[in-house]
Amino acid sequence: MGHPELVVVSLICCLAAASAAKLGAVYTEGGFVEGVNKKLSLLGDSVDIFRGIPYAAPPKTLEIAERHPGWQGTLKAKEFKKRCLQATITQDNTYGSEDCLYLNIWIPQGRKQVSSNLPVMIWIYGGAFLMGSGHGANFLNNYLYDGEEIATRGNVIVVTFNYRVGPLGFLSTGDSNLPGNFGLWDQHMAIAWVKRNIAAFGGDPDNITIFGESAGGASVSLQTLSPHSKGLIKRAISQSGVATSPWVIQKNPLSWAKTIASKVGCPLDDIARMANCFKITDPRALTLAYKMPLTGNDYPVLHYLGFTPVIDGDFIPDDPVNLFANAADIDYIAGTNNMDGHLFALVDMPVINNNYKDIKDEDFYKLVSGLTMTKGLLGANTTFDFYTQFWSRDSSQETKKKTVVDFETDILFLIPTAIALAQHSANAKSGRTYSYLFSHPSRMPLYPNWMGADHADDLQYVFGKPFATPLGYRAQDRTVSKSIIAYWTNFAKTGDPNMGNSAVPTHWYPYTVEDGNYLDITKKTDASSMNQNLRTNFLRFWTLTYQALPTVTGEDKVPEDDVPEHMEADS
Ligand SMILES: *[C@@H]1O[C@H](CO)[C@@H](O)[C@H](O)[C@H]1NC(C)=O
Ligand SMILES: *[C@@H]1O[C@H](CO)[C@@H](O)[C@H](O)[C@H]1NC(C)=O
Repeated sequence: MGHPELVVVSLICCLAAASAAKLGAVYTEGGFVEGVNKKLSLLGDSVDIFRGIPYAAPPKTLEIAERHPGWQGTLKAKEFKKRCLQATITQDNTYGSEDCLYLNIWIPQGRKQVSSNLPVMIWIYGGAFLMGSGHGANFLNNYLYDGEEIATRGNVIVVTFNYRVGPLGFLSTGDSNLPGNFGLWDQHMAIAWVKRNIAAFGGDPDNITIFGESAGGASVSLQTLSPHSKGLIKRAISQSGVATSPWVIQKNPLSWAKTIASKVGCPLDDIARMANCFKITDPRALTLAYKMPLTGNDYPVLHYLGFTPVIDGDFIPDDPVNLFANAADIDYIAGTNNMDGHLFALVDMPVINNNYKDIKDEDFYKLVSGLTMTKGLLGANTTFDFYTQFWSRDSSQETKKKTVVDFETDILFLIPTAIALAQHSANAKSGRTYSYLFSHPSRMPLYPNWMGADHADDLQYVFGKPFATPLGYRAQDRTVSKSIIAYWTNFAKTGDPNMGNSAVPTHWYPYTVEDGNYLDITKKTDASSMNQNLRTNFLRFWTLTYQALPTVTGEDKVPEDDVPEHMEADS
């Protein structure tokens, strides 16, 4: 009975029970890091939080970052680092820092021993490749991309990180002088750092899911398609953005580079000299040399996104639509919000939100022609006729305004997502495919009563805000949030959103090209939420009818000369 080994064992057991599990200092490839342990309940549950671990060395302007050389002693990782240098919302100033390549980690801990082998979810933020940060917008200490709710509810590790945006992330001359995609390389380095180091934090390096929204969803998609990601990523979730979206690939980076060059006084005629000049230009001047025009545009806002990923022959070797074989073994969820296009329609046709003002047919025609430029007048006429075919039966303003939103949702989000899903599923080997539509209506005050889920409305539910700030939400919002977190984290664990630790409201069947299964996520998600062939007539219109029309211009972009002129006028 009085065996010494037993005494030792029981001592260890009781000590462990008295002091809840936490990581303390963790040894990474760069050296020790120490975060904070936040107690969650008297039972001893907690979450270990590391904020501001460098995943690469501070980058040189417009160069791919290099590995961090490491540090002596223990690095305190207790505060978020500055976002990557970017324009403020008013676009007349900058904030953030070039020294910005840091990540944050949330690890849920139970009572007894530290977690091990947990699935890992890495978040990639959106913001048009122009703005954003790993921690997200905040109100006081409440950060949008706080990983705590997902980590503790789903028992997964959550990682968020900064990557370069705007001209500093994506300026390119379209050749080897300045290949661009610096922001995508940053994302890749963050994912690779997690793969190499997450085991020391209790994560399973073979169970990495990347997820993101808008430009972040498109980034997720691009990361899965890049040959450089081979073996890094097990699963991926694209919310409202895929590599095949028309706003993702910049096909004419040199014309945008010239616009910047003329603003900051770099040579326009010699591309090598132009590129070298950019690298020694004040990075704040480079950032402010581009302004996204938001009012009085001649063309839909889509055309003014200058600094986005490019086909560089390396990280993105080809048009994304041809790269899906690289994602053959990746499990993939992709979906959109049912009124994702509303935010953009609001910029292009503000009157859609005004209950007292009517839209004019010719205004919608102008919008349509601005987004069908490659197919000329015939493309505009055919598309306009197709979208307005129901107007003769129901010409109410509500129907017309919803048509405008549907049109932008289709072009910017829904159709490209349908194409990405079809490509993923057609190229898949072991990889599974799931599709969703998020339809929980926007809670923005003063929005029209026909409003559905706007762009970015899903974020608050994915990050569990209805639980973190319960006073700001209703019970139905918590239902929505609980369902999404359950599906997302189950998927991160098993590749099947239905299987894992968390109960789900209904079975989510995989997508196939034939039936187009998708889950409609609402406050009462149930068996009737499993639907098929979302907007299949419109998908057929865009991929068959429209596609077959003769092409009149190579690029569906603003005529080159208009861009600098407009930006000049705007600054
Ligand atoms: C497009 O429609 C306009 C107005 O109805 C018409 O004048 C024009 O001829 C049409 N163009 C083509 C190419 O269909
Ligand atoms: C991922 O995690 C799950 C659950 O912990 C485990 O069953 C599985 O083997 C892990 N690895 C992979 C590659 O899925």
